[in-house]
Amino acid sequence: MSLQQPEIEAEYFSLSEREIFIRIAERKKELAGRLLILCHHYQQENMFRFADLVGDSLKLAREAAAIHGPEFIVFCGVHFMAESADILARSHQKVMLPHLHAGCPMADMATVGAVSMAYRDLVQAGIVQNEEALVPVTYVNSSAAIKAFVGERGGSVCTSSNAERVLEWALAKGEKVFFFPDEHLGRNSALALGIPADQICVWRRGELLGGNSVEQLRRARILLWDGYCEVHMRFLPDHVRRWRLHVPDIKIMVHPECASEVVQVADHYGSTEAIIAAVNKSPAGSKWAIGTEMNLVSRLQRQHPDKEIHLLAASPCLCTTMDCNQPVSLLWLLDNLAAGRVVNQIKVAPDVAVQARKSLEQMLSI
Ligand code: 13P
Ligand code: SF4
Repeated sequence: MSLQQPEIEAEYFSLSEREIFIRIAERKKELAGRLLILCHHYQQENMFRFADLVGDSLKLAREAAAIHGPEFIVFCGVHFMAESADILARSHQKVMLPHLHAGCPMADMATVGAVSMAYRDLVQAGIVQNEEALVPVTYVNSSAAIKAFVGERGGSVCTSSNAERVLEWALAKGEKVFFFPDEHLGRNSALALGIPADQICVWRRGELLGGNSVEQLRRARILLWDGYCEVHMRFLPDHVRRWRLHVPDIKIMVHPECASEVVQVADHYGSTEAIIAAVNKSPAGSKWAIGTEMNLVSRLQRQHPDKEIHLLAASPCLCTTMDCNQPVSLLWLLDNLAAGRVVNQIKVAPDVAVQARKSLEQMLSI
């Protein structure tokens, strides 16, 4: 979701990088005890240096919920992450994004209107007897409204590290599972559980019955919304073949948002935290080609000069929306906080938050 970013005054853009860094450090000191800066692994280094806590989206939301003191939580990540933090935060805490254009295009690919319509069509076509037979599972990269839709129907959120476990739970609970918004995480997790490919259907937005025949839908155990991450779709099986040809002892690790053709030929796949853990525990001299966002890969390169680490693709793979968060917008936000003004707050409506919390809590209990 891209919200309207208030104008940042022109004088901020005349500051040098050094001045910006000094002023951010000063503001952090002034707001000490009241401020917590969280930073996702995909943020650039110039934001990362000011983080109090770093992690993947779920870890950051959980940690924000566990730290009750700070009144201001600045989430250097994207919109859905700030929403999750707000849902799990205490009532006195305010969650903010440094720049309101930092959204996740994949999360925006599943809207409550379109998902509700798909549910209605599936019941009307007699694919399932009622909506309860179709258990919804949403990737954490989704709006609070989608999480609420899932929570209301007894479904669950999942992350890239627990998607298989959550899918297994959902398959045991109902006749079929509807997974959104990421087709690829859904397919990779279903294949890992041994679900045959002909029992997995893609629901294509805008097409009659999602572009499937009644027969295909009857046979399917898992329906996948056709959302995707532009960043992870850039990695191709050909990249894997090329690295293996040139560096025979290289290990390939990719994020499960990559297409299954890539995941199937990689040596390992896993969430951002799993990628970091695999590189951290590999011995000196290890060689890696990694298929995920380039800021994380560059950081791993800097942190492990004793290892050979490459981006799997030849061209840059940047999460451009997350990159809207820049030091200048962080300074602008902190200046406002220091002056007593809360800007760029991400606030989930209370009725939506109650239902969305159910789907997040369901995940934590699986
Ligand atoms: P994590 O859940 O691992 O933080 O990943 C979020 C994301 O957007 C990956 O593209
Ligand atoms: Fe969304 Fe992809 Fe960016 Fe992750 S990397 S926040 S899925 S656009």
